[in-house]
Amino acid sequence: MGHAAASWYDPIEGASRDEIHALQLTRMKWSLAHAYGQVEHFRRKCQAVGVHPDDLKDLQDLARFPFTTKQDLRDTYPFGMFAVPMNQVVRIHASSGTTGKPTVVGYTRNDIDMWANVMARGIHGAGGRASDLVHNAYGYGLFTGGLGYHYGAERLGATVIPMSGGQSEKQVQLIMDFKPDIICATPSYMLTLAEEFIRQGIDPSVSGLRLGLFGAEPWTNEMRREIEALFGIDAIDTYGLSEVIGPGVAFECIESKDGPHIFEDHFYPEIIDPATGEVLPDGDFGELVFTSLTKEALPVVRYRTRDLTRLLPGTARPMRRMDKITGRSDDMLIIRGVNVFPSQIEELILRNKDLTAQYLLEVSRVTHLDKLEILVEMKPGTDDEAARKKAAADLQHHVKSYIGVSSEVRVVPTGTLERSVGKAKRVIDLRP
Ligand code: DLL
Repeated sequence: MGHAAASWYDPIEGASRDEIHALQLTRMKWSLAHAYGQVEHFRRKCQAVGVHPDDLKDLQDLARFPFTTKQDLRDTYPFGMFAVPMNQVVRIHASSGTTGKPTVVGYTRNDIDMWANVMARGIHGAGGRASDLVHNAYGYGLFTGGLGYHYGAERLGATVIPMSGGQSEKQVQLIMDFKPDIICATPSYMLTLAEEFIRQGIDPSVSGLRLGLFGAEPWTNEMRREIEALFGIDAIDTYGLSEVIGPGVAFECIESKDGPHIFEDHFYPEIIDPATGEVLPDGDFGELVFTSLTKEALPVVRYRTRDLTRLLPGTARPMRRMDKITGRSDDMLIIRGVNVFPSQIEELILRNKDLTAQYLLEVSRVTHLDKLEILVEMKPGTDDEAARKKAAADLQHHVKSYIGVSSEVRVVPTGTLERSVGKAKRVIDLRP
């Protein structure tokens, strides 16, 4: 492979494709049998389509098994998909959906241990070391971000500052006083922090931070460059979701920063056509689906993430990568028949160096026609009337010519839009 084995946190990172394949097959057989044996809901779904774990002879046979969706977790709320008795469950997390009841996930002691290990591996591959001081600004609580990062950084041997989200003024003070090497946050919250630095008269680039581990929401490479320039750090994309484990499903490597490498020894990825459910070859865009290979408390088989991306070959590591998430299928806006993802608009906004990544999309219906309004802020010091008009006209033009949808751009004064403390809300859809 041409990689120094000494650079791995875990020797599995250097495994060949054949070794990974063999390990996946052994583990997948175990995971399917475990879910089938212990989770009635899953067993019944398999029986309904006439498939049994013994039918899995090779990885491709997974395609015969039914998908798991958020609806399955809702139908069995709160603990009905757990595959172990409650006395073996040592932790619960939950992700709050936009509507209705949260999705509840559980972990055994071994699950927590595996999670800490994949997180430590990810942080290490992203350039973190045991000697680092880690400022963790992901929310602690039911959200998996805070505790997931916390356990991983500790497992690596680093020193963790369990800051959680919010209290931006204090965050800046602690960053300046403690001089952490690494920050963990959502990219949108990192921008909120940049503003707080500036408000306090401090240039974010003097923070002393070296590395940022970002994720939990979609963000573009344009946003990455913005954050890297502001803070003078390397910004790394990290991906995960509660149902599969939390953060720690996939991490970018510092050497390549070319899309998160999936920890395929624990999470088996597929890309499917979201309309037909058919498995697509690597390289094709579609919906990302995961099967857990080692999880005890909540094994998931073919969990549909709703995240749209594609699988790519490994670069810095043999394990496969996923491309940047273009969006969630639930976030896709259909505006007068045109499919629009917020990330496409973010890309165009950030191509204008006078505009900031503080933006909001408002969709409404005016006399039977969809209307898209883009609210965006300018960088402080650039927003005179003429510049505002020009920025609005340019963006409107670019959105029309690149995405094919008409919009109304409103450049609003700095500080108008609500700042993110966690996952940013980018869309307000007022349509009936
Ligand atoms: O957001 C886990 C996490 C925490 C990942 C901290 C990374 C860092 P959930 O709250 O269950 O879990 O939300 C999962 O967030 O299906 C994606 O839609 C989105 N998401 C997570 N990471 C990324 C990313 C955590 N790097 C949902 N890029 C996922 C784009 C992401 N979207």
